Amino acid sequence: MPESILNLLKSSDSFVSGQDISSILGVTRAAVWKKILGLRKKGFVIEAVPSKGYRLISSPDLAADYLLPLVKGALWKELIVHDSVESTNDLAMSLAAKKGITAGTVLVADRQTRGKGRLGRRWESPGGTNIYMSLVIRPELAPRDVTMLTVLAAVAGARTIQETGNIPVTIKWPNDLVISDKKLGGILTEVRADPDRINLAVIGIGINVNMLSADFPEELRGIATSVRLEAGHAVSRNEIILQLLKEFEHWYGILIAKGRKPLLAAWRKDSSTLGKTVRIAIGDQTVSGVAEDIDENGMLVITMQTGERRHISAGDITFVR
Ligand code: BTN
Repeated sequence: MPESILNLLKSSDSFVSGQDISSILGVTRAAVWKKILGLRKKGFVIEAVPSKGYRLISSPDLAADYLLPLVKGALWKELIVHDSVESTNDLAMSLAAKKGITAGTVLVADRQTRGKGRLGRRWESPGGTNIYMSLVIRPELAPRDVTMLTVLAAVAGARTIQETGNIPVTIKWPNDLVISDKKLGGILTEVRADPDRINLAVIGIGINVNMLSADFPEELRGIATSVRLEAGHAVSRNEIILQLLKEFEHWYGILIAKGRKPLLAAWRKDSSTLGKTVRIAIGDQTVSGVAEDIDENGMLVITMQTGERRHISAGDITFVR
């Protein structure tokens, strides 16, 4: 029920009477009051005036009660916000292994104690400021299409931050969200798959939202940034999550209905990698050349100095100036 009360309060700029809430939801006024108290405990600021009713003043910056009713639908079924977990990706995978997890679940954490980045790196995950989320889906895709899920999340993430922060975020292949070559977010996709089918995909997304320079460890200050630092003001994590889930659902629908082409075109439009001279470290090998394109499998197409073209599936990329 708190979801429904919240929806009623959110849809009105002024007071909604206790009488109206109780008759619309078919519950007693005492039950309405109890739920209002519950919402206040979760950080919602709700004004109560005896002759007028209730008015929503503000919502907590990160709240499942706020988000779930707005995203629940064809793709998203559950949204759970944890205060602290080791890693939202690991939690999703272990829930899947132990008791199963509903496809369409979104796990969000305020903080991670063992946040994981790509290539076994650590993902800086302090509390109260950023987004750490894992999207759990059971896609109608073959294992070779898994890169497309990372491409999809990168496009959804870039579009979301461009709109909510009004800042020119781009995608640095394969999975970085960057602005002026400073990293603002990253994606880590993990799957459980049979040879011909992805059983479960966990798409982990980390976005630095409201971190200030001093909040970053010193070694990251020159190479990482946040939405707040770039936009010049704090941004609501709820709004970014909401928008990101909508964008993801939109592009997922397009991928399933129309194939990869529209998604790859969107990726190209937001890419800061294409046309650049790059150096890519792949294990202990390095490949240099001009990044020409992204192919149908999400691989980066490089033309090397010799004129040879290579399709690269993963690696650490540096722009050569
Ligand atoms: C990268 O750019 O290296 C990928 C970073 C992915 C970080 C996110 S935060 C939520 C999810 N849980 C994790 O442990 N990692 C991903």
